[in-house]
Amino acid sequence: MNAPEAPSGDLRRRYTASDLGVFTPEEARRFIPSGNGDPQNDVVLAWELLYRLEPELYDRLASAERLHPGVVGWLPCGVDRIVEVGAGTGRLTMELIGRGRHVVAVEPALPLRRILIRKLATADHGDRARVVHGFFDQLPLPDDSADLVVACSAFTPSPGHGGEAGLAEMERVCRPGGCVAIIWPNHLSWLAARGYRHVSFPGPMSAEFGSHDDAAELAGIFYAKAAGEVRRLGRRTVPFEVLGINAPRDLAFKVLAG
Ligand SMILES: C[S@@+](CC[C@H](N)C(=O)[O-])C[C@H]1O[C@@H](n2cnc3c(N)ncnc32)[C@H](O)[C@@H]1O
Repeated sequence: MNAPEAPSGDLRRRYTASDLGVFTPEEARRFIPSGNGDPQNDVVLAWELLYRLEPELYDRLASAERLHPGVVGWLPCGVDRIVEVGAGTGRLTMELIGRGRHVVAVEPALPLRRILIRKLATADHGDRARVVHGFFDQLPLPDDSADLVVACSAFTPSPGHGGEAGLAEMERVCRPGGCVAIIWPNHLSWLAARGYRHVSFPGPMSAEFGSHDDAAELAGIFYAKAAGEVRRLGRRTVPFEVLGINAPRDLAFKVLAG
């Protein structure tokens, strides 16, 4: 997951330990395995609270940080079944609709699932995609049931966000000869050690916010170190280098033995 490792400004101060009650028992087991935590000192936890407490705010950020078109273009097209894990509000899901006959979007956070379901219905794609609850390490899907299993800005080597068990589950669900892809990966060497190859798409990339005010507000929350520069630029498009994060131009993939 790229975002939770990115420098975060206000986000860490946005929530407190008293917000942890929003997690379901299943979520708490993964995100606060010791039974308690402090989002003011654990930015990964703060992101999980964001998804549940302010999902529309997360959606505004994800909508601005669009993937390099080469990433989506690289993915297999014209396949039968695609599974996306950690689908969020659908930054990638909406693109997958045109590439497979049927898409299953797995997402643990109910507020994000609701936004994704709404977007799919608005785009009249409700019949092409199914949005389901699930986690990387416990996918509610049969063995060998997808041609492509993909995660975007969601998988990390940490057990709560994928890890060994999560990668094994993605590979279990993928059919022999199918492809498992991790988009916007944050630990390439960890994935390389497990047989994943890296592809990167070049060219300048900027986040495209709705307006300059939107850029300034979201930078203040998510990229505090860049907020002054974003205000100074006075534009709604902001190069990813200015935000201080990797641009969403990379993927790691493995084609499973057929
Ligand atoms: C940074 S968001 C990315 C969402 C979406 N893929 C996108 O690109 O906008 C990370 C997503 O991973 C999901 N997530 C976190 N832990 C997870 C887990 N253990 N299993 C599956 N998804 C998880 C979150 O709920 C969230 O939707």
